[in-house]
Amino acid sequence: MTEITIRRPDDWHVHLRDDAMLEAVLPYTARQFGRAIVMPNLAEPVTTPALAADYRRRILQALPEGKAYQHFVPLMTCYLTDETDAAQIAEGYEDGVFVAAKLYPANATTNSAHGVTDITRLEPVFTKMQAIGMPLLLHGEVTDPEIDIFDREAVYIERVLNPLIKEFPKLKIVMEHVTTKDAVEFVRAHRDQMAATITAHHLIINRSHVFEGGINPHRYCLPIAKREVHRLALREAASSGDACFFLGTDTAPHPVSDKEAACGCAGIFTAANALELYAQVFDEENALDKLEGFAALHGPAFYGMDANEGSVTLVKEDWRVPGTIAVPDGGSVRPFRAGQTLSWKLKD
Ligand code: DOR
Ligand code: ZN
Repeated sequence: MTEITIRRPDDWHVHLRDDAMLEAVLPYTARQFGRAIVMPNLAEPVTTPALAADYRRRILQALPEGKAYQHFVPLMTCYLTDETDAAQIAEGYEDGVFVAAKLYPANATTNSAHGVTDITRLEPVFTKMQAIGMPLLLHGEVTDPEIDIFDREAVYIERVLNPLIKEFPKLKIVMEHVTTKDAVEFVRAHRDQMAATITAHHLIINRSHVFEGGINPHRYCLPIAKREVHRLALREAASSGDACFFLGTDTAPHPVSDKEAACGCAGIFTAANALELYAQVFDEENALDKLEGFAALHGPAFYGMDANEGSVTLVKEDWRVPGTIAVPDGGSVRPFRAGQTLSWKLKD
């Protein structure tokens, strides 16, 4: 196969940031995707419908003019804190401002300091979300420093997620950016209420690649990549055609200066080549026929939305990923696989 046309896909997990960074990265996401679930972990987290409506306005203002971008619809999420008010987020959902709510365990990752310290305090929120069908999006890692960083997802499933689904058997849950075989198995076993997003980078790198030829900050994200056995499980899940797995890039741009630092921050920027990365993986798995389901159909079905009307075409053609992308404030971001050759290319 040398060319493939699929329904226009959506990205069910994106960090668009704000200001200059938003301006730099948004065109890449908008060019490929019809819709994107926008993460609320700004420096001032998006915790209320008013903050989300403002942020949505800033995103739409930053959208470049022209047919290549104007189809794009940002879908907003609510950042849950210990203080989240059930009635307020339900109102945001019913007014169409929020599409879902995101739970960051406090201090699990970038801009999560305001996250949830005690999940039991959110019981009234989950009760309400379950009643109205509002999806809960989980960063599924425990923050207990005693737990090895490579085990934090598996331990989260056992300690937090399993009890949560027992208590709320009808709550719709997306386990975001799954990185383990354990998560794949758990999501499949609870598919009546659960789904998972899978990033392109977790399909491509395992934990050894983070240290290949020296410590590589541009391959560091959270959850961190795991052993090869887990990467293979993710590739099987994504390319299986199973509707409980769908595309979520978790593209997370940071200035190069923050990545290439003594304490480099977590996040991999894949928006500049996301679909091409996924296409390459599906091609390697001999599963290009499953790409449309994963990228464009399973997500909308879970969220209760229609698939997009338009389409995108990828061609089998070598191209080189740029080394860096400029940010209008003078900085830059480095795309995943920068300087390397990819074998699929999105047609304009
Ligand atoms: O690597 C990550 N980066 N993981 C996250 O959960 C957050 C993200 C970010 O916002 O940079
Ligand atoms: Zn994320």
